Amino acid sequence: MATLLYVLHVLGAVLWVGGMAFALFALRPAAHEALEAPQRLALMLGVFRRFFRVLWHVVPIILLTGWTMLGFWYWGFGASIWHVHVMHGTGLLMAGIFVAVALGPFRAMRAALAAGDRAKAAAALDRIRKGVALNLALGLLTVAIAAWGRFGG
Ligand code: HEM
Repeated sequence: MATLLYVLHVLGAVLWVGGMAFALFALRPAAHEALEAPQRLALMLGVFRRFFRVLWHVVPIILLTGWTMLGFWYWGFGASIWHVHVMHGTGLLMAGIFVAVALGPFRAMRAALAAGDRAKAAAALDRIRKGVALNLALGLLTVAIAAWGRFGG
């Protein structure tokens, strides 16, 4: 059981962090090169709509498996496992940023595009990009700390 939770937890982290890296390092620059603003905005809205729909499932799985492992393996939150405590903090921060971006700028972008206001949609997209970039940095840090704490001591 604990192994299954661990596998689900790590797969969730791979999807979340890997998806953000792909969006920022590959998709976004390629869309800038190949597309004019209206097509680019429509593409990025579709990309984030699908990616965020996946994350609404993946993020709770990461948090729930993390909390359950903490209970099963380490007998609660008081245990001295520094890397899991750091992961817990950055994980909660990342989840909060995701929810804020999905309910804030993402919705604003969708509404602006529906109303034909491209400038407003572009400004909202930029806020989404900043939130995703921050979460990518936190996600990479979290994975590095998790791996370091487990194998590096
Ligand atoms: C509520 C938040 C979280 C909790 C309570 C939590 C808890 C845990 C626990 C208990 C383990 C097993 C640790 C071990 O056996 O050494 C683990 C492993 C791991 N977690 Fe998390 N986690 C959380 C969020 C995250 C997030 C957001 C990510 C990445 C984006 C992440 C990535 C990993 C990775 C890569 C491992 C495997 C390396 C390792 O075992 O240390 N975790 N987590």
